[in-house]
Amino acid sequence: MKRALTPGTFDPITSGHLDVIARASQLVDEVVIAVADSQKKGPLFTLEERVELVRQATAHLSNVRVEPFKGLLVDFAKELDATVVVKGLRAITDFEYEFQMTAMNYQLSPQLETLFIMSPPQYMYLSSSIVREISKMGGDIQQFVPPCVYEALKRKYANLQ
Ligand code: PNS
Repeated sequence: MKRALTPGTFDPITSGHLDVIARASQLVDEVVIAVADSQKKGPLFTLEERVELVRQATAHLSNVRVEPFKGLLVDFAKELDATVVVKGLRAITDFEYEFQMTAMNYQLSPQLETLFIMSPPQYMYLSSSIVREISKMGGDIQQFVPPCVYEALKRKYANLQ
């Protein structure tokens, strides 16, 4: 049983995340989407809201489940008996940050492998933060997020005004 983690803050999940998760689900027996608490990032959506949106957005993927986590990713991987971390890699700007995390995770847990899946061109510059910004300013983000996220962002910003 090969189990992979796809970790992230998912504030909120985008079509780019979904692409990586769907592709990872073809490579292993089970994918656990690990939704990080990430309180220090001051997320727009609560952990519970982010988990629920990820659940709705991935309901069609039969070997994918969603779990919230707090603390270190390497500890969560051990707890779940996951041997691989799969992450998406977009433009060159991601490299430094991803390399740092991969190097540190490797030092902490050498048996945990990290794999990167390149984003396809249409998602190369897509990020949760840019989606939040466009949505906050009234732009149309439908092509960048699953329908549940589109609705949730509309509700969130309507309530914040
Ligand atoms: O979507 P993000 O915010 O880029 O994801 C970053 C995430 C959640 C994968 C990373 O911050 C993480 O693994 N956090 C858990 C805490 C941890 O293990 N920190 C040390 C990383 S070397």
